[in-house]
Amino acid sequence: MVTISVCVGSSCHLKGAYQIIEICEKFLEEKGLRERIELKGNFCLGRCTEEGVTVAIDGEILSGITPENWQQILREQIKEKLGEGKKD
Ligand code: FES
Repeated sequence: MVTISVCVGSSCHLKGAYQIIEICEKFLEEKGLRERIELKGNFCLGRCTEEGVTVAIDGEILSGITPENWQQILREQIKEKLGEGKKD
């Protein structure tokens, strides 16, 4: 199980955290990954001063997430995390 925590602290909220969550939910639904990926909101991840929204994937913090780059990053991250030892 991979855990994706989207920061919903005030700074990330203003930068579009809920849009990031929506994109993620849609992506997981389309790819049938609901059972393998846990999506949740998180309090401030301490990167408020960086651009974009902050997301932690299995504890690895990524900042600079925007609605434009998120799907690509998500796809790569999921492939990397789920790819280990398993063939899709
Ligand atoms: S509010 Fe998101 S990193 Fe601080």
